[in-house]
Amino acid sequence: MDVLEAMRRRRSVRSYAPRTVEEEKLTEVLEAVRLAPSRHNEQNIRVIVVRDPQIKKQIRELADTQSMVEEAGVLLVFCATGATNFLMPCGQYGYVVDMSLATGFALLAAAGQGLDTCVICAFHEEAVKRILHVPDEMRIVSMAALGYGDDSSPRPAKKGLEEIVSYDRF
Ligand SMILES: Cc1cc2nc3c(=O)[nH]c(=O)nc-3n(C[C@H](O)[C@H](O)[C@H](O)COP(=O)(O)O)c2cc1C
Repeated sequence: MDVLEAMRRRRSVRSYAPRTVEEEKLTEVLEAVRLAPSRHNEQNIRVIVVRDPQIKKQIRELADTQSMVEEAGVLLVFCATGATNFLMPCGQYGYVVDMSLATGFALLAAAGQGLDTCVICAFHEEAVKRILHVPDEMRIVSMAALGYGDDSSPRPAKKGLEEIVSYDRF
């Protein structure tokens, strides 16, 4: 599947079948994270692959997350392991952009593997950090449910190019 095809296939799926994600497919998704761009190529990332049902249950219950956290075969947790106070010249924090790109790469690779995903940022970071033993100084930016969807709802409408693109001027 080419990249645009994977992009067109991807949508946020919030209900999952009780089906294991094959090791080879998971590895492809993690490989995409490994290849993602990062500021100065520092690669200050740790992706925690959560498959243990007990841990997923704890994250759902103690970190106030959603049912897909428990249902999906895998929960990916994107942790920034480098400096979190570095403002780039553009005024944005580098680690947030790094983690966002890594998350996006994972979503697209998953779509290419016939897997479904949903980004999850509605969680209590401190609670997730405690459950997963993430060091205090690190930040969890995002998580993603990864598995086989059980959800036939249509993909949400997207704006047309004419609404989001302009050329040479705003
Ligand atoms: C930064 C970010 C945070 C999100 N957090 C959640 C979340 O906590 N729970 C959820 O169900 N979806 C979450 N989503 C998914 C969005 O709701 C979804 O991408 C959006 O509705 C567009 O749908 P699509 O992904 O199917 O194109 C998040 C997406 C982004 C980019």
